[in-house]
Amino acid sequence: MALNFISAQEAAEQIKNGDSIGFSGFTASGTPKVVTEALAEKAIKEHEAGREFKVNMFTGASTNDHVDGALARANAINMRTPYQSNADLRKRLNVHDAHYFDLHLSELAQKMRYGVFGKLNVAIIEATDINEEGEIVLGTGVGISPTIAAMADKIIVELNDALPKTLRGLHDLYLPLDPPYRREIPIYKASDRIGTPILKVDPSKIIGVVKSSAKDGVKGFAELDAVTMQIGANVCNFLLAELRAGRIPKEFLPMQSGVGNVANAVLHGLGESKEIPQFEMYTEVIQDSVVDLMEMGKCKFASTCSLTFSDDAMDRVFNNMQFFQDKIILRPGEISNNPEIVRRLGLITMNTALEADIFGNINSTHVLGTKMMNGIGGSGDFTRNAYLSVFSCPSVTKGGLISNVVPMVSHLDHSEHSVDVLITDQGIADLRGKDPVQRAEAVIENCAHPDYKQLLWDYVKMGKGGQTPHTLNAALAFHTEFAASGDMRNTDWSKFA
Ligand code: COA
Repeated sequence: MALNFISAQEAAEQIKNGDSIGFSGFTASGTPKVVTEALAEKAIKEHEAGREFKVNMFTGASTNDHVDGALARANAINMRTPYQSNADLRKRLNVHDAHYFDLHLSELAQKMRYGVFGKLNVAIIEATDINEEGEIVLGTGVGISPTIAAMADKIIVELNDALPKTLRGLHDLYLPLDPPYRREIPIYKASDRIGTPILKVDPSKIIGVVKSSAKDGVKGFAELDAVTMQIGANVCNFLLAELRAGRIPKEFLPMQSGVGNVANAVLHGLGESKEIPQFEMYTEVIQDSVVDLMEMGKCKFASTCSLTFSDDAMDRVFNNMQFFQDKIILRPGEISNNPEIVRRLGLITMNTALEADIFGNINSTHVLGTKMMNGIGGSGDFTRNAYLSVFSCPSVTKGGLISNVVPMVSHLDHSEHSVDVLITDQGIADLRGKDPVQRAEAVIENCAHPDYKQLLWDYVKMGKGGQTPHTLNAALAFHTEFAASGDMRNTDWSKFA
């Protein structure tokens, strides 16, 4: 059957109000770029004609402005899961224009297959290459592609000629059997290949192939500031101390690292340290720093779900595929983030918090307890099952008006049971083996900003006992004080005595 090339508008015409759509990719990488812009234009026209038009969206992780941005601005999203990081969508979901539910990334594909979210009408899949038998070479991110390709009634392929054909061979696509038939996932080291490099889809489901030339458009990194550099240095020093103490084996362990400037700074620090041996990554995204680490020979292998590189770094990789080809594997999110494998390989996981409390609980998602920032992403998949789980954040935000170390987190994503170490620009709190009061001492002394240390100590002293000495009517006083006066430093415990 010959490939049926259609325009983005013709593809969008095939999508109906209320449809559930699955998208390839993970972050901006490997995510469709042109059909969704046409879909947003269609939604605007439908709304102008007085007709309802909204769709349900299932993705690997965050997407790009062509997907979440365009559809959010067109108010064309009914339901959205499992993660996003787009400012326009954030506005919509915080006023319930779009119904967003936050989910561990490893869980979405299997929950879709279990039938939790009903039928999938359409899959939109970005491809580097495709043939008439329905054999697709995916782009720079995988996400939930194997599951949506199998489940969707119709498939639209975006064939992107900005992607080099040498991406063929980088992917390792594997769908686990579903319970009660699931077996172990046979990955015993980060570089093990267990699946196929090609996504095979039923060619009769492909309703059209749309040509695209759009790049992923991932932004480069801001210059590292003093706070970020200090956090990066503290994380490196902590890992070095663990290595010297023999708690990290001398061969080192594979690492997972979250996204953002702090993660980038940590990886740079590890690269510069002479004592840290060559290491592997088993993670969900790799950023620009990993390209440097591979070029300098420090990172010998990366298993990931996406290449979240800036256009510059992507060009460096694309222009030197011979070098990178045997150093990178691209896996589906349910494998890159799989708890079984995280536990087996013994990952060192490094994720970012919005705020942490003195007892070691982490809020990664809700600004001041109510407004969704992005979502939990893969942080729970990795943290809960880590060999060693590290969270980091700056000690204060907004010039010190907000302390990121608080008496009680205003929303809980990772509980004290899963968090081994908290690191800020002030220092390192190793929480392992400590009771709640000992944890509070370590967090306040080592991680809190000097402006907040006494306030936090006074909160602990105000407690009337119990294993975790909270004063319940004062536990969120930092947050209510910020709402009232705009400065957490004005918190006055005498109001609660
Ligand atoms: N209270 C209120 N606002 C806060 C805050 C706090 N405790 N901490 C940070 N903020 C604000 C910042 O001021 C900033 O605001 P701005 O957008 O107006 O500048 C915003 O929140 C983001 O903070 P920033 O320090 O720039 O965050 P980041 O880019 O380092 O991201 C997370 C931090 C937690 C939002 C991000 O790591 C995330 O989404 N994590 C969850 C998913 C995850 O961990 N995935 C890991 C696997 S890849």
